[in-house]
Amino acid sequence: MGSDAGHTSVLLAETLELLAVRPGGLWVDGTVGLGGHAAAILRASAPDGRLLGLDRDGETLERARERLAEFAGRVRLEQADYREIPQRLGDARADGILLDLGISSAQLDDPERGFSFQAEGPLDMRMDRSRGESAEEVVNRTRERELADLIFAYGEEHASRRIARAIVYERERERIRSTTRLAEIVRRAAPRSRRPGLHPATRTFQALRIRVNRELDGLGEALERAAGCLVPGGRLAVIAFHSLEDRAVKLAFRSLAARGFCALTKKPLRPGEEETRSNPRARSACLRALAREEAVA
Ligand SMILES: C[S@@+](CC[C@H](N)C(=O)[O-])C[C@H]1O[C@@H](n2cnc3c(N)ncnc32)[C@H](O)[C@@H]1O
Repeated sequence: MGSDAGHTSVLLAETLELLAVRPGGLWVDGTVGLGGHAAAILRASAPDGRLLGLDRDGETLERARERLAEFAGRVRLEQADYREIPQRLGDARADGILLDLGISSAQLDDPERGFSFQAEGPLDMRMDRSRGESAEEVVNRTRERELADLIFAYGEEHASRRIARAIVYERERERIRSTTRLAEIVRRAAPRSRRPGLHPATRTFQALRIRVNRELDGLGEALERAAGCLVPGGRLAVIAFHSLEDRAVKLAFRSLAARGFCALTKKPLRPGEEETRSNPRARSACLRALAREEAVA
């Protein structure tokens, strides 16, 4: 298992197998996070495989730097968006590229980051805290109609109109600044989630996170450009965590299949019971992979 300091990498063995990691080569982890997948790739590609690791979150990247210190000389870490993989690679071509989308457990568990409705914290939710609008700004500034639309589109939340109305009512009384206040407003507006066991604020928080980080913007195009950076026979593996993300991956893969790439997973690979039991956050993971066809001689 890819476990380190309480952090578990999702679908680790399956990812390494689909990427066909072997000694040597150049590997890209576009969402390096705490470096769990990256460490496993570096181990499997020893003694001379190299890895370029990107993450848009500078704080996370520093932790990855410590964790991956033992591979110094074979790893390069840069604070960047995975949408920049082609620029970061320059003329080089990769043997395998991994994207493990979404947020890491470290981000979710740190109340200061504002991703979790379960702990009191500022409504931030930016993966890169050095730029962009925070969730607090989105929640307090966005017009009611637009707020409802984004909660519906990105959270697939059917009570989006009621929730948006409650947010606007409450923010007129006092600016909404904390995660727990927002969660409480949502809970009062729509106390029952459609899925049993799901906290009423789950979908609204997901929607805001996607909006704040523009997580779905240009995802399909980014995958197509990343695939274009593979050597013949090179592999691209993507782990998505919600249906909107997985749909974008599926469509991009379908379009690539018509242009010299072949799918390695007909259906997305899902974690088994054992993995879901030991790491409940893995339960919604969907892994898809494709390979660039070998050049015809
Ligand atoms: C699920 S975690 C990755 C965990 C990692 N595979 C591991 O084993 O430790 C996702 C990471 O992707 C980063 N991320 C999300 N969107 C990104 C983007 N557009 N560009 C670069 N990094 C991104 C997040 O900051 C987070 O650290």
